[in-house]
Amino acid sequence: MNKWYGRDSGLVRAVDEVDLDVPAGQAVAIMGPSGCGKSSLLHLLGGLQRPSDGEVWLAGRRIDTLSEGALARLRRDSVGFVFQSFHLMDELTAVENVELAALLAGQSPRRARRRALELLDRVGLADRATHLPSALSGGQRQRVAIARALSNEPLVVLADEPTGNLDSAATVEVLRLFEELRVAGQTLVVVTHDARIAAVADRVISMRDGSFADDSWLAGTGTIYGGGR
Ligand SMILES: Nc1ncnc2c1ncn2[C@@H]1O[C@H](COP(=O)(O)OP(=O)(O)OP(=O)(O)O)[C@@H](O)[C@H]1O
Ligand SMILES: [Mg+2]
Repeated sequence: MNKWYGRDSGLVRAVDEVDLDVPAGQAVAIMGPSGCGKSSLLHLLGGLQRPSDGEVWLAGRRIDTLSEGALARLRRDSVGFVFQSFHLMDELTAVENVELAALLAGQSPRRARRRALELLDRVGLADRATHLPSALSGGQRQRVAIARALSNEPLVVLADEPTGNLDSAATVEVLRLFEELRVAGQTLVVVTHDARIAAVADRVISMRDGSFADDSWLAGTGTIYGGGR
């Protein structure tokens, strides 16, 4: 698949003839220098953008041809996004941030609250449920964002530089959480500059200029079905 921006002499091949299969349950790290196309690729996988050419399939369903409305529903129901800058609502508490998507999807307030509290407990923030983001550390905010990303029981969690704004201690907290998700069988695609995240992945892809320069399936990966390499 391809994603191009601009045209003629200004053409940027942000994603250039990439062919990617991610088996269910795999934890993939995508690395590479700034501008090599990591975010562009992630946006294609999550239906935030459409490819210029090629196809995107998620769990047996072609998504690049869906209508805008269907794509929005797919993102809401099936994908969990985690961003570098957290993207929490500043005026909502931690638990309100986590339950918001479920409420918007029509879930009952009581169920949404119960599930949000469970998720906050899972990310180790049960005692911070009523804090506003401004009263949380960076690592705690990102863990709230991860709890939010899990609220729709996503087919895949897509994270773009999730530790990019975090100090070392907070990075370790978030890493531990991703490791737990990996062990629990959550399919994960994490764009990162941090070699420590790559170390908890099943597979590390290095991108250069929109293409894959390397694609390593790490030893000891037990969750992969189909042809590894
Ligand atoms: N909306 C856009 N319009 C034009 N060019 C774009 C657009 N978005 C990205 N690009 C270009 O596409 C290329 C890939 O960008 P992308 O954001 O995917 O890189 P990245 O690997 O995520 O970089 P970083 O590590 O800095 O986040 C870059 O050359 C960038 O300038
Ligand atoms: Mg990027």
